[in-house]
Amino acid sequence: MRIIETIAEWKLIKRSSRGSWGLIPTMGFLHDGHLSLIRRGCSENENTIVSIFINPTQFGQGEDLAQYPKAIESDLEALRREGVDVVFLPSTQEMYPSGFDTLVVPGDLAIRLEGRSRPNHLTGVATVVCKLFSIFQPDRAYFGQKDFQQYLVIDRISRDLNLGVEVVLGETIRSSDGLALSSRNSYLSDTERLAAGILYQALTKAHYLYRNGARNCKDLKDAMMSIINSEHVVSLDYLSIGNVETLDELEVIETTAIITIAAWVGSARLIDNIYLSE
Ligand code: PAF
Repeated sequence: MRIIETIAEWKLIKRSSRGSWGLIPTMGFLHDGHLSLIRRGCSENENTIVSIFINPTQFGQGEDLAQYPKAIESDLEALRREGVDVVFLPSTQEMYPSGFDTLVVPGDLAIRLEGRSRPNHLTGVATVVCKLFSIFQPDRAYFGQKDFQQYLVIDRISRDLNLGVEVVLGETIRSSDGLALSSRNSYLSDTERLAAGILYQALTKAHYLYRNGARNCKDLKDAMMSIINSEHVVSLDYLSIGNVETLDELEVIETTAIITIAAWVGSARLIDNIYLSE
């Protein structure tokens, strides 16, 4: 496994490589959710590259940029075990050299949900992912369903800007109580960790009601809220039932929908979602 820190090193590797490349962009502190994307990347491409970069432009003022967890040695060990070919560990200066002055601003898909709660977050994500696509020109790039809006935005950008990267959605990996794996779960105290399971309980309740014929979004949201409100350490940021392609808010579900939720559990802001489909 090659560990590189500069774009110049990558150019030399690319020049002598053969076959397809799969890219898995990460911010490190890898868990089974990342590993599942990496395994898929390894199985669908001849070569795999994983980037580890805590991207400052996607964090707002007062967010957790300085505290974001890091575990570079164990990350590298895990990547070695998975058979990844290249790991890209750039400095902030390598990604954003002085004078950097260009942002990729996604459109309507990014104004709701995360876009409303974390202004500029998706612009920061879009900018760094566009840079990674342009540096590596991978055949495929892998993103987890937990960040569904992020996936939709990146897929849109890849098509709109003809980046030629197939954007692949990987499943959400969950712990035994259903909590979606996330690096930010490490912020939770034991009590908060137990309480956080309520988010998936609320999502599965809505899924159950949907499977039994419920189609009215207010009814589904009321049922979810009564579960979420039973946990005092959980404070809801948003709950949305939207169109799976546009995220437009729905009143009645015709066929499919995506329920997305964001909540504060102590100092951790967690997001999750569930896909409803007949
Ligand atoms: O999902 C993440 O970890 C980040 O948003 C990403 C895609 C690596 C961009 O920094």
